[in-house]
Amino acid sequence: MPVDVLTGLQWGDEGKGKIVDILSESVDAVARFSGGGNAGHTVSVGPDLSFVLHHLPTGLLRENVEGLIGSGCVIDPGALLGEMGELAGAGLPVDRGRLLISAGAHLVHPVYRVVEKWDEARRGDSSIGTTARGIGPCYAEKYWRRGIRLEDAAFEQGLRHKAREQLEYHLDAMGGSAPSGSDLSALRDATGRFVEASLALLDYAGDVSLRIADILESGGSVLAEGAQGALLDPDHGTYPYVTGGSCTAGGACSGLGIGPRSIGQVVGVMKAYSTRVGAGPFPTELPNETGDRIRERGGEYGATTGRPRRCGWLDGVLARYAVRLNGCSWVALTLLDVLSGFEKLRVCNRYELDPEASAGIFERGARMALHRPFYRELDGWEEEIRGMTSWDALPRKARDYVLYLEELIGVPIGLVSTGPGRSEIIRRDV
Ligand code: IMP
Repeated sequence: MPVDVLTGLQWGDEGKGKIVDILSESVDAVARFSGGGNAGHTVSVGPDLSFVLHHLPTGLLRENVEGLIGSGCVIDPGALLGEMGELAGAGLPVDRGRLLISAGAHLVHPVYRVVEKWDEARRGDSSIGTTARGIGPCYAEKYWRRGIRLEDAAFEQGLRHKAREQLEYHLDAMGGSAPSGSDLSALRDATGRFVEASLALLDYAGDVSLRIADILESGGSVLAEGAQGALLDPDHGTYPYVTGGSCTAGGACSGLGIGPRSIGQVVGVMKAYSTRVGAGPFPTELPNETGDRIRERGGEYGATTGRPRRCGWLDGVLARYAVRLNGCSWVALTLLDVLSGFEKLRVCNRYELDPEASAGIFERGARMALHRPFYRELDGWEEEIRGMTSWDALPRKARDYVLYLEELIGVPIGLVSTGPGRSEIIRRDV
């Protein structure tokens, strides 16, 4: 059996949690391959019960599914233990046999949050608007080859030494802006707790690549769960307004230690409109009443930070780009119900290049905002469609909207989500 991969096609927050939850019904393991505490995968498992998972693979919400965290992820050990505690409190204990964390996963030292805050302040108007979880500095340290990995916890004295070394290194780098007095003692205490939490996680450490190979060899199946979205990918997203981890399907190979030939289907998750949280180009943004209406109807506030999300029309050009980057087999469309009641809907279907851009390159970095989007206008639909489960029952104009998106992105839309609940989904043959 191959590994299927699920990724986000926009700037994160596409509703991946719900789709992973649905697809994990029939898999043996769900594996996170990138990101960490910056992610917020929300799953509504009952009328009054929902979970927001940051580090843990969403599949753990199903009793028979094993969770794997690959070396492409970055882990805040205390926060991860807290998440595990929350699940245990809800009657879903994450025992040793149900969770395996790659020994090569990097750990988020508490000083990284401080460094990130300092760095964001220094950037002033050009700040990234990160989730402030220390993600960027952790990936930076990884590539500076100074980072702390879970395997370091196997040598307690070595871990303590590294944790101290990281703290001193960054305090030194921040110079006069480094915390002092009670802030510094709080940071030293947090470093002590970081070491203890890392040691506690050691019980879960192992070889994720090997575990996946074993599962596949015995005929089992694995779903690789991406975090964030293609447009936040450091290689292919709107750089520098991106995250640190790989957000496209290719990242599943490096982040889990599997070869490309192990990949089966690639499922892209796309919202019926666009949102973005944090700074960076967003050509189809609606900084007006229409955008506010989408935000309120869609509850578009960050699952990790609570920040209001920027809202806009669906960008079909970028969606098609993301489908190509990921090599999507099919797409799951989410939050279609949010668009009920809009008289007209717009979808960006082409761009006119910024006349000042040299060599006619469609830049996707910071200058992307200078390219001019053009739209196709479609009729909206009045009817509330929340909770619908049948394609034929959808208003014709809602179906036309989905079919137009399908035409734009060039691959079938196999699932249409009509609400947060597990059962609020339309399945189509793809
Ligand atoms: P970082 O991942 O905290 O470094 O943040 C970098 C950028 O990615 C910021 O614009 C964040 O708002 C954005 N980002 C990171 N994780 C998520 C996510 O899960 N959903 C949406 N945006 C995210």
